[in-house]
Amino acid sequence: MNDMTRQADLDPPYLYPGYRSTTLRAPLEPLAALPRGALDVPGPFVPKGFVRDKDNDLTVHGKSAPLGEKMILVGRILDEDGRPVRHSLVEVWQANASGRYSHPGDQHDAPLDPNFTGIGKTLTDDEGRYRFVTIKPGAYPWQNHPFAWRPNHIHFSLLGNAPVQRLITQMYFPGDPLMAIDPVFNSVPDAAARERMISTLVLETGIEGIALGYRFDIVLAGAKSTPMGM
Ligand SMILES: [Fe+2]
Repeated sequence: MNDMTRQADLDPPYLYPGYRSTTLRAPLEPLAALPRGALDVPGPFVPKGFVRDKDNDLTVHGKSAPLGEKMILVGRILDEDGRPVRHSLVEVWQANASGRYSHPGDQHDAPLDPNFTGIGKTLTDDEGRYRFVTIKPGAYPWQNHPFAWRPNHIHFSLLGNAPVQRLITQMYFPGDPLMAIDPVFNSVPDAAARERMISTLVLETGIEGIALGYRFDIVLAGAKSTPMGM
């Protein structure tokens, strides 16, 4: 059956035994067929006021600056034909500089940062551009296998122009040695597609003397799409 939500060559399979939690969540039954056109509905719409000023700056919500390496993250959201996805919701979540999420589910023995929740959101502009101010997330251990550590990464959720375009992905950092041994990163079968999950260091998009700059463009569909579904 044609699975409209993923591309077999570019997106990770639902079941990738090396990434242990996929064995619990992968569908056991054949996918249900949707009536033709069922997903061709307008929207999704983001309620007015849902995104506020400063929601794209993760460094200004505490009493002082969060610990860590400050960075500016910019990029564009593009459709299959390279057209900008305009005024579309981009959400991010990430660990703090010590590799700990501000979430009760994270019991990793690393310090919480009272000045960093690691959650941000913004809308793309007329050119499909987004911009976040944040700090570089730390690597963290997880229970997947002995000595398992996730590479530095930022989680993204994008709504796109239609519900079927909703994308969840993870952005990585260039040169991180943990990528090579990460089952989440490596669950994407195609090497070129894996590269499209790695941001680029672009110093000029940073702030001189204050923040490093990274660029991460995201393509929602097509042969050059950013891998989704992890
Ligand atoms: Fe994570």
